Amino acid sequence: MAQLLYGVVCTAVLAVLTSAKPTGSEEMAVELRMPEVQPKLHDTYLCVPMQAGKKASYITGFLPHANSSTAHHMLIYGCAVPFKTDQIWNCGEMASKNSDVEQGPVCTEGAKILYAWAMDATSLHLPKDVAFKVGGNSEINWVVLQVHYKDVHLFLPPYNQKDHSGVTMLVTETPKPKRAGVYLLATDGEVAPNAVTYMEAACSYEQPMTIHPFAYRTHAHDHGEVVSGYRVRNGQWTELGRKSPKLPEMFYNVTHAGITILPGDILAARCTMVNHENRTVAIGSTVKDEMCNFYLMYWVDGEDIMDENYCVSPGPPSWYWSDVHAIHAENVPADASVVPGTTEVIKATGAKVVVENDLDQVKDEFIQLLENFRDRVEAGGNPEPEPRDEEPENFNYYHYP
Ligand SMILES: *[C@@H]1O[C@H](CO)[C@@H](O)[C@H](O)[C@H]1NC(C)=O
Ligand SMILES: *[C@@H]1O[C@H](CO)[C@@H](O)[C@H](O)[C@H]1NC(C)=O
Ligand SMILES: *[C@@H]1O[C@H](CO)[C@@H](O)[C@H](O)[C@H]1NC(C)=O
Repeated sequence: MAQLLYGVVCTAVLAVLTSAKPTGSEEMAVELRMPEVQPKLHDTYLCVPMQAGKKASYITGFLPHANSSTAHHMLIYGCAVPFKTDQIWNCGEMASKNSDVEQGPVCTEGAKILYAWAMDATSLHLPKDVAFKVGGNSEINWVVLQVHYKDVHLFLPPYNQKDHSGVTMLVTETPKPKRAGVYLLATDGEVAPNAVTYMEAACSYEQPMTIHPFAYRTHAHDHGEVVSGYRVRNGQWTELGRKSPKLPEMFYNVTHAGITILPGDILAARCTMVNHENRTVAIGSTVKDEMCNFYLMYWVDGEDIMDENYCVSPGPPSWYWSDVHAIHAENVPADASVVPGTTEVIKATGAKVVVENDLDQVKDEFIQLLENFRDRVEAGGNPEPEPRDEEPENFNYYHYP
């Protein structure tokens, strides 16, 4: 049987990528692994690319090979164009500069997260008949493995170990009737000093096909206590997922199996940020900055996944759920800011809320942000917002009680 994903063979170290073994059925096991690397600095992020075929192939599952004592997390990205096609590179969100390999983004065009592994995660099998389409006309021409090496002491003397962490993908050339996609809700904005701040995003879904969310992943930096995501239908809020981003940041099952998103529904997410520092923390790419991300993995019947991959709001202090009447913010579930397994509601303090808005201006700002955000993600692989402009003058604020 023909190989479905083509390994990069330009250098000897990458030859390991080409090993594809039939698994018995028509599905093949395709390995994407680090080529015996020895990262020397803590918090090194390394990326290794694999080309998808001219003919489309379909990924139905991911089996991780990693040890959480060395790999902090692994992500599989789909790229239209990766930063490198023939060697590994340093692809950190917070990349350390003095590394011996070139530094750059995961993708230089068209980045999508397909799989996430972190401590304790087992394999991910997509639901029956569901697959990520790669290669062909899918806009995913390359699959890239990113490994975050948090602790590298085993790669230094006296151990001098080498690492080949990676993922086995279950791949077939037989088209699957249902196609998987990932949608990302995120915010820009900032977290006030010595305060609890809600970072909120919401977007309406307007395409004709039914979306079937089945898994979600949260991502924030140190100040994130809980990230929650919702479907809002006719003012009724239903939880998609809620998780502490301090837990392993992998994909988890949605709260309600079988939930659907229909045209006219609103997708919403909130990150509850607790800041004990005496400084404002802005959304950004370094470890000192914050991020507020809720990823939703879904399937659709047929070929057409969502046109838009992102929903991004200006975030605090200029935008909150309460700015959108259609969202019925009065119906936000009481546990939206409760860490699962606890009962305490983490209430926003000192955060600012817009009470008077020029709706056209907000809409323009949304569209502009979305465009910038999409350009950045497509260009960089990481949703890193740019520095914010001055706040519009006609925004008035008051403080939460
Ligand atoms: C993970 O690595 C640690 C440290 O080298 C080792 O003790 C442990 O056995 C490894 N676990 C697995 C599952 O390989
Ligand atoms: C997630 O959902 C799948 C499909 O419904 C189910 O088989 C699996 O056991 C669930 N996993 C967990 C951890 O609940
Ligand atoms: C916190 O910052 C404010 C404003 O810059 C300053 O007046 C205050 O002294 C700072 N407090 C601490 C404990 O550093």
